[in-house]
Amino acid sequence: MKAFIVTGTSRGIGEALAELLLHRDNIVYCISRTTNERLVKQAAQQNARLRYYPCDLSKLTDIDGLMETIIRSIKQEHSIASICVINNAGMLPPVMPIGQCETEQMIDNVSINLLAPMIITSRFIGLTKEMAVDKRMMNVSSGSAKYLLPSQSCYSTAKAGLDSFSKSIHLEQQNVPNPVKIASVYPGMIDTQMQAEIRSVSKENFPFVEQFIQLAQAGMLETAEKTAKKLLQLLLSESYGQAPLVEEL
Ligand SMILES: NC(=O)c1ccc[n+]([C@@H]2O[C@H](COP(=O)([O-])OP(=O)(O)OC[C@H]3O[C@@H](n4cnc5c(N)ncnc54)[C@H](OP(=O)(O)O)[C@@H]3O)[C@@H](O)[C@H]2O)c1
Repeated sequence: MKAFIVTGTSRGIGEALAELLLHRDNIVYCISRTTNERLVKQAAQQNARLRYYPCDLSKLTDIDGLMETIIRSIKQEHSIASICVINNAGMLPPVMPIGQCETEQMIDNVSINLLAPMIITSRFIGLTKEMAVDKRMMNVSSGSAKYLLPSQSCYSTAKAGLDSFSKSIHLEQQNVPNPVKIASVYPGMIDTQMQAEIRSVSKENFPFVEQFIQLAQAGMLETAEKTAKKLLQLLLSESYGQAPLVEEL
């Protein structure tokens, strides 16, 4: 039995990841604010094991309890061969010059894109340190960490922080018993609500909005399903975790 913990499963890439993981050899723990009823129904129809944990990851101090509950549940399972965590939940706003960003928006952005994955990683490593099973973590980052644009400072900074965090934990896990393999991954540009959000920002707030509209119109965005397939191929590959940053799928 393989256990998967996936955040941001109510739509987009996370939903596609969870859907692909519905299989009788897997148990999938889903986290997002909104329960994805379609996934829950599909799991029941397929007799697949899916457990949904509605949670607002911006409430950072709730994450300890959430992870304790999930890891306790995994430990109660018989014959767990591996545990994978995919930190996929993310948010884009505020997309505007920094002088106009509200403090609450900046706190939310860094909480969801950086602090929540850090806390989930910390709890996962701490709570499973005695478990001699294959353990992997994937942090879904973004090319925006490296290729900077005006008005995306919060998102880019949080994702760049996530990359540094993955690299640090990769180093830390080299010489410990029962290590966790970890990497930050740039998934490409995908046709999800997040891209729709970029396209809806005004030109005054985001001077590059037209380029994003054109990319979508030219059919340059990948589907969430194809992206999820590639992410899982990478996560489950033999060489996963050798490089702590994967910039291309
Ligand atoms: N789409 C792209 O082109 C692209 C490019 C590069 C990187 N990425 C990265 O890929 C990941 C997935 O993005 P996507 O395009 O699939 O975005 P999306 O369609 O907007 O989905 C975002 C997911 O994150 C969850 N989420 C947001 N805020 C949350 C919160 N406070 N608590 C818990 N869950 C929360 C959402 O669920 P709820 O709203 O129900 O909570 C949703 O399931 C993100 O990390 C994003 O940065 C995307």
